[in-house]
Amino acid sequence: MNARGCRFVSVNGHVTAAIVVAAVALLVLTACSSSPEASTPVPTERPIATTPVARSGQEVFAAICSACHGLRGQGQPDWHIPKEDGTLPAPPLNGDGHTWHHGDGFLYRVVREGGRFQEDPVLLPNFKSAMPAFGAQLSHQEIVAVIAYIKEWWGGKTSRGLNIVEAQAIKSSQDPLPDG
Ligand code: HEC
Repeated sequence: MNARGCRFVSVNGHVTAAIVVAAVALLVLTACSSSPEASTPVPTERPIATTPVARSGQEVFAAICSACHGLRGQGQPDWHIPKEDGTLPAPPLNGDGHTWHHGDGFLYRVVREGGRFQEDPVLLPNFKSAMPAFGAQLSHQEIVAVIAYIKEWWGGKTSRGLNIVEAQAIKSSQDPLPDG
């Protein structure tokens, strides 16, 4: 399905709405393909911020991010189902979703630039992100801190035998946080 989607895009240059929807769904599904078994306990409590940087991130999260992502990072209901305007609801950031598959650099850009940096008029002409940009409101240190806080939710969660912390560390070593 992935290969077919790509062939349509590259060969015909003609992307039907259905294929775009499928591509978006595929992105989500692919990202979630290694989601943990239902029996895996989901960390729903707010983490105890263990470092000073995570503690300051906790304040940012509670003041700003929790309005959409929930105080416990649980996200909005049916977060993977697009709304009528084509945007997705706010996803869980607590490890019960796919966010932990992303490297630090991606997470940083989402917070600083908003989700719109992923919009691609050619490949995903209908994809719109409702994640606002916080680059004007938050400093580099605050963005790094809030990401550190979010990542404290991810400790110990396993997926396909992978430790979530290890998996995310590998991803982030290939996509590190930018310099301040
Ligand atoms: C107005 C609601 C809203 C607020 C406030 C908000 N977000 Fe989001 N966020 C969203 C939505 C909606 C998405 C999904 C966007 C998409 O489809 O690309 C999202 C996506 C994200 C993602 C990417 C998740 C992924 O797996 O791709 C991260 C990380 C994130 N938000 C972090 C934050 C942080 C940190 C804050 C606080 C500084 C914050 N958000 C505040 C609505 C919000």
